[in-house]
Amino acid sequence: MYFHKYHAADNFKVTGDVKLSLEKLNGSSIYRLTAKSKRWTKNHSQAVLSPEKIKRDVKCSCSLSGKRLSLSINGKRFLESDASLPFGVSGNAWAMSFVYDNDMQFYGQGEKNNGFEKSGSFTKFWNTDVWGDFTPEQYKNGVTDPMYVSVPYLLIKRGNTYAGILVNDPYPVFMTLNAKLDWLPDGAKSGVVIGASDGVPDIYIIPGPTLDDVTTALQRLVGTTPRPPLWALGHQQCKWGYRSHDDLSAIAARYKKENIPNDGLWLDIDYMDGYRVFTYNKKHFAAPKQQIGKLTDAGGHVVPIIDPGVKREKGYAVYDDGMKNDVFCKTSDGEPYIGFVWPGATVFPDFSLPAARAWWAKQVKTFVDTGIHGAWIDMNDPSTGKSELADMRFNNGKLPHESYHNQYALGMAMATREGFLKSNPLARPLLVSRSGFISTSRYAAVWTGDNFSNFHHLKKSIEITLNLSLSGIPFNGPDVPGFGGTPTEELARKWYKAGFLFPFFRNHAILDAPHQEPWCFPTATKNVIAKFIKLRYKLLPYIYNLFIEQEHSGRPMLRPLMYDFADTVALPLSKVSDQFMAGDALMHAPVITEGAEKRDIVFPKGMWYDLSTGAWISGGRRRSYDSKQDATPLFAADGSIVMMQTGERTDNQNDLTDVEAHIFMRTAIHASVRYTIDDGSSFNYRRGGETHVDIVVKKNGTSLAVTIAKNGASLPVGISFIIHGAAAAISVNGGGNTTLRKGRVTLAGNPLAVKVYSRFMV
Ligand code: GLC
Repeated sequence: MYFHKYHAADNFKVTGDVKLSLEKLNGSSIYRLTAKSKRWTKNHSQAVLSPEKIKRDVKCSCSLSGKRLSLSINGKRFLESDASLPFGVSGNAWAMSFVYDNDMQFYGQGEKNNGFEKSGSFTKFWNTDVWGDFTPEQYKNGVTDPMYVSVPYLLIKRGNTYAGILVNDPYPVFMTLNAKLDWLPDGAKSGVVIGASDGVPDIYIIPGPTLDDVTTALQRLVGTTPRPPLWALGHQQCKWGYRSHDDLSAIAARYKKENIPNDGLWLDIDYMDGYRVFTYNKKHFAAPKQQIGKLTDAGGHVVPIIDPGVKREKGYAVYDDGMKNDVFCKTSDGEPYIGFVWPGATVFPDFSLPAARAWWAKQVKTFVDTGIHGAWIDMNDPSTGKSELADMRFNNGKLPHESYHNQYALGMAMATREGFLKSNPLARPLLVSRSGFISTSRYAAVWTGDNFSNFHHLKKSIEITLNLSLSGIPFNGPDVPGFGGTPTEELARKWYKAGFLFPFFRNHAILDAPHQEPWCFPTATKNVIAKFIKLRYKLLPYIYNLFIEQEHSGRPMLRPLMYDFADTVALPLSKVSDQFMAGDALMHAPVITEGAEKRDIVFPKGMWYDLSTGAWISGGRRRSYDSKQDATPLFAADGSIVMMQTGERTDNQNDLTDVEAHIFMRTAIHASVRYTIDDGSSFNYRRGGETHVDIVVKKNGTSLAVTIAKNGASLPVGISFIIHGAAAAISVNGGGNTTLRKGRVTLAGNPLAVKVYSRFMV
């Protein structure tokens, strides 16, 4: 257990020895505030920040007068230092405070379960092994803050104008957002205070005005997530206890038998020989390469867990080699730091050192050569058992623990990705990390750690995933339907229905929990789970393209309604935390309350097509909605085109070149989409190996005029048009009018009556 002191109560003073400077980053809309003082020598952040030159017509100005900062957007004052403590220090700690205004709302902060909107909160950023540091009552039903990932980023909203503040300080950062605090007089609130216990202040101010402006600029600054392989967006099956080739092969066979698609076959710690990292237990994997090869040939993708702790044991090659190369963390007296993780006494690679990262990458390379396609990097908070974290120092014992703690998982992700690319420079790996920091997005996805199978966690999972998405970690998701405890049938159905559009989609459970693979539930529930896994696969062309768009623009796949729609007095969106957009075409409002199939749904302005009933619903209002056990409230926006795979998907043999363009048009008379495909697995897309298909639909009465243009590598693509909305005829690329035929398709509920035109080759 490690508690770090909050510094907000300290006696911060404005002093003359700190010199602040502000610069506008060349060619971008981002400002950077830095501080010089002999208190701090070097910024130890290893975050990889690259402000891109984004030309935007933003009318904003940020200025510094002495220590007072002021930000205006579109001619209106957005943020202003509080004159009483614009920038103060207390020892090595620093803090800056801003004037709070009633119309301010707060989001972001990476992975936190302290609510979707954060007014009134007081939080710190310190990567934490939640189940290690909180009581069962807290982690089952409460707020556990901090959690595994630290992204010291604050998103401020005022009306429909947004700005972000990113604190690139690896030491524990804190933020108080108009909070009542023990040490303040009764009734007083803190204002907006941001600070850290140490480290050089290095602050990026990202003005909007829109949420998309802020988020895409932030994402490009911290790094977009490189395009994952297509299989990584499919369903992932995991369970603590899976340990052998036979286990995984049985799981793969059962998915096949049940006609449910699945891609990832995950191995938890028991596949190792006595929890020694980079080993296989011979009993479970007699011939790893051949056995993993067999699973791969059958269409599976093996993803083992990799923990950073290396068993301290002479004669164990990884330990001996690490000692020889002097890559492990040390204490202040230069001895290796010993922690206690799964194998007992362990040493830890010092990822702050380039040489240690290179060493780790080498181990990873050798391991990846056995044929694995991804890795699950865990316990990298780091979790060290009963050993005091403070004794674990970095840079050969020279730097205190706090300087690198929050970055440990980032360093591990960097080195692990490097190892994968060394083993196979052509293949895109999937890395999923428990902990992370600013710029983890460049190397790994994040799953939200050890949650619990209850409705509290189901609700939290949406709030967390939305804020992670706004904070520069777009590829994320929770364990579905919960890691600890036993999911009821109802919870399993609801969590699967809520989670099938999350960027990362994995079923995982703790060792002592009963199995929760889809077939472990009675048939009716199994069928619901199967239906939504299949819908995920049907939607993969759309989902994959959201990841491609994210890679280019930084736009997150999943986002709150206020991302795409204006927040108005008539229809407030700022607190809608149980609905989300997946891209700009789909809105999901899952039912996440126990015992209910009914809920209120906020429909933003426009017309919405109900994918479970086929009805069009007019938006701009909140309305009550009745769903069903085997359906979910999923809606497509009028004027959108959603690319899907053809027919029902019963396995993971995806075909991005054989697709359906689902056209949703009610009052809209124009819709367009760019559909991009590549080989789904290699980096060839960076060298021209992608095909773009641009589809434009114009509606004239009941006639649709479609133009399709293809460019890039010339994969032949077959497209069927499925029309949701009144239409009688279609003409494609200037060809004659063809009468549309009647058809039926089932997506999120009942069979829908549609019009069909199949199939156009381009
Ligand atoms: C940690 C992980 C969990 C994993 C377990 C055993 O608790 O968060 O996902 O199953 O360790 O490796």
